[in-house]
This record gives sequence, structure tokens and C-alpha cells, in this order.
Amino acid sequence: MLINEYFKSERLFYRPFQMEDLQTYVEMCNENSRRRWFYFQEPDCLTTEFWTKEFENNIATWSKKVDILQNRFGCGLAISLKETGNLIGFVGLTKFHGPDDELKDIEIGYHIGEAYQGRGYGTEATKAAVEWGLAELRTLGSEPKIIGKAEHANWPSRRVLEKAGFRFVLAEQYLSVYEIVAQ
Ligand SMILES: CC(C)(COP(=O)(O)OP(=O)(O)OC[C@H]1O[C@@H](n2cnc3c(N)ncnc32)[C@H](O)[C@@H]1OP(=O)(O)O)[C@@H](O)C(=O)NCCC(=O)NCCS
Repeated sequence: MLINEYFKSERLFYRPFQMEDLQTYVEMCNENSRRRWFYFQEPDCLTTEFWTKEFENNIATWSKKVDILQNRFGCGLAISLKETGNLIGFVGLTKFHGPDDELKDIEIGYHIGEAYQGRGYGTEATKAAVEWGLAELRTLGSEPKIIGKAEHANWPSRRVLEKAGFRFVLAEQYLSVYEIVAQ
């Protein structure tokens, strides 16, 4: 079942997506608890056709090399339960590019499917991704800093960031911005 294990935590492991995950992934993208915060996404972004292309790109990228400074989020890494192997969500780190293609901060994104929410998996996955990401950034000679953003009223997401050790830094118009910096 596994094509590649990247890292693990107590109850979860994180791996590149495979085509067999596509339907579950699209269903998760369409869940109410996600649509509530990603209301601005075009309907096209919720279809199997759209995600088929993203999966193909993502699988091609991950199969070559994990380069945290270059890869865009795509669909990130699949989060699976160690106990059953079930896909329960996704987590990813992406480098955002500013004007003139200037490299900006690394940002974390995550989702846990509704059937699995409220059991600490979001926090566990975020901690694991951050630990892995900060170590990668150090290795690559880049500032070991990751940011997280959530809508002001998205308390589950804000709690995930807080419990994973992020510090609130700024309130933008719609988003609360957090950061974590390795010592
Ligand atoms: C945000 C999200 C990843 C949290 O995942 P999770 O596995 O439920 O998170 P945890 O179990 O670690 O709990 C984190 C917080 O979520 C909240 N929460 C969890 N389950 C909840 C539920 N059933 N009802 C209300 N709040 C809940 C709690 O505030 C909890 O913090 P607490 O334990 O200190 O009270 C998940 O809700 C999700 O994927 N939401 C939709 C997508 C999204 O918002 N992504 C982030 C965009 S910025």
C-alpha cells in the first residue's frame, strides 16, 4: 500500500498521495467544515477533474525530490492512520512567492476529514510537519521559520496552531497570522 514513508508521529504517518486517494480527497475538499473557510474557491477546484491534474503534478514532484523551498502546496502529503492505513487528511508546507517572484515565507496548511476531527489528529500532524519542516529549512540554510494563517473565527484551526507551538503575530483583514521559529 505504501509507496513511500516520509515521516511519522505517534498515531499517524505522512506519505505522498497516490491516484487511489483521489476520490476520498475530493470528498474531503467538499465537506462543509472545509467549504466554510474556503468559500472563495471556484467550483472548478472542487471537482475530480481538477484534482486529477493536481494529483498527477504532485505525484510527479514528490517522486523526484522533496524540496520545501521550491514545491508549491498542491495537495501536500496524505495523513494516514497507522492503525488502519486510512487516509484521514492532508498537511503541506509551501513557499509563497511575492511580487517579482521574490521568495517569501513557508506556510503550513492542513485538513482533517470530518469523520476524524476532534481527536487531536490536526494538532499531531501540524507538530510533526513543523518539526520536519524546520529541520529541512535548517539543512537547506534557510531561516527556520514557518507561518500559519487562519480566518479570525476559525477557532479549530487557530487552536491547532497554538497547540503546535505557534505564536500569534498579526491580525490581517481576514486572517490571524501565527509563526514558529526554531531556536
Ligand atoms: C482545523 C482542523 C484541521 C482541526 O483538526 P482536528 O483534528 O479536529 O484538531 P484537534 O483535534 O487537534 O483539535 C484542535 C481544536 O479544534 C477544535 N475542535 C476539534 N473538534 C471540534 C469539534 N467537533 N467541534 C468544535 N471544535 C472542535 C477545538 O478547539 C480543538 O482545540 P481544543 O482541544 O483545545 O479544544 C479541522 O477542523 C479541519 O480540517 N477543518 C477544516 C479545514 C480547515 O479549517 N483547515 C485550516 C485552514 S486555515
